[in-house]
Amino acid sequence: MSTSKIVLITGGNKGIGLETARQLGKLGFTILLGSRDEARGQEATATLTAENINAKAITLDITDLDTIQSAVKQIDDQYGSLDVLINNAGVCLERGLPPSQLELTVLRNTYETNVFGSFSVTKAMLPLIKKSPAGRIVNLSSGLASLTEYNNPESDAEKYGVNLLAYMSSKTAVNALTVLFAKELKDTPIKINSADPGYTATDLNGHTGYRTVEQGASIVVKLATLLGDGPNGGFFDENGVIPW
Ligand SMILES: NC(=O)c1ccc[n+]([C@@H]2O[C@H](COP(=O)([O-])OP(=O)(O)OC[C@H]3O[C@@H](n4cnc5c(N)ncnc54)[C@H](OP(=O)(O)O)[C@@H]3O)[C@@H](O)[C@H]2O)c1
Repeated sequence: MSTSKIVLITGGNKGIGLETARQLGKLGFTILLGSRDEARGQEATATLTAENINAKAITLDITDLDTIQSAVKQIDDQYGSLDVLINNAGVCLERGLPPSQLELTVLRNTYETNVFGSFSVTKAMLPLIKKSPAGRIVNLSSGLASLTEYNNPESDAEKYGVNLLAYMSSKTAVNALTVLFAKELKDTPIKINSADPGYTATDLNGHTGYRTVEQGASIVVKLATLLGDGPNGGFFDENGVIPW
């Protein structure tokens, strides 16, 4: 049995997820790097191993219940519990069309990953997280999830000026998952929070973001390593609380 804390990061093979793995690995966590593509997962894990990080690839497509159940079994067999789950895997499938022109299939597929996938992984992993003395769950939300911000003409153009119904509403729903799971778990040691990494240069946005993955991952790491007196059911970026 390992004595270091075990973290599962979904969509850990690139972008903010991979950098979160790197930062937590350097803090001594054992990294379970979730990737829907086995080869991409192995390749990313090899880069972490080369940096002396204890990392292992796990094939995990968050829209595929079989791979989720297989991941649960692997973690249970090898570690018996899970300390931290980072629901990082996410997609932005729309290409700038206004809500009235959004295809239903794009909306459905976005929710399939961002909402139903994150829900399914959380639900499946929860029995293992309950076996940790101090379980933590971090949901990758977005500044574009905030109803307050995206409905406020006074907020910056980066938020009010964007109108991507599928992506934005899916991340608002992710925030609802955070709040409602937190309510259920409030009398346990588990803490679940939403993180906004900020507009970060990754494949998700064609590298148009102006923040680095190092900056984006920092709030995720902070919420993954909260002490016992930390918040539960909140929504944060690196500057503090974000309005819902
Ligand atoms: N970048 C930003 O500005 C920004 C801002 C706010 C929030 N976020 C959120 O941060 C998270 C990470 O995004 P990123 O910017 O790092 O994007 P990214 O580089 O595109 O990485 C997304 C990751 O999610 C994985 N993924 C997608 N669908 C999956 C599925 N069904 N099962 C398992 N993995 C899946 C991808 O795997 P493949 O490599 O196989 O495609 C990839 O590893 C997302 O939840 C995103 O919404 C990003």
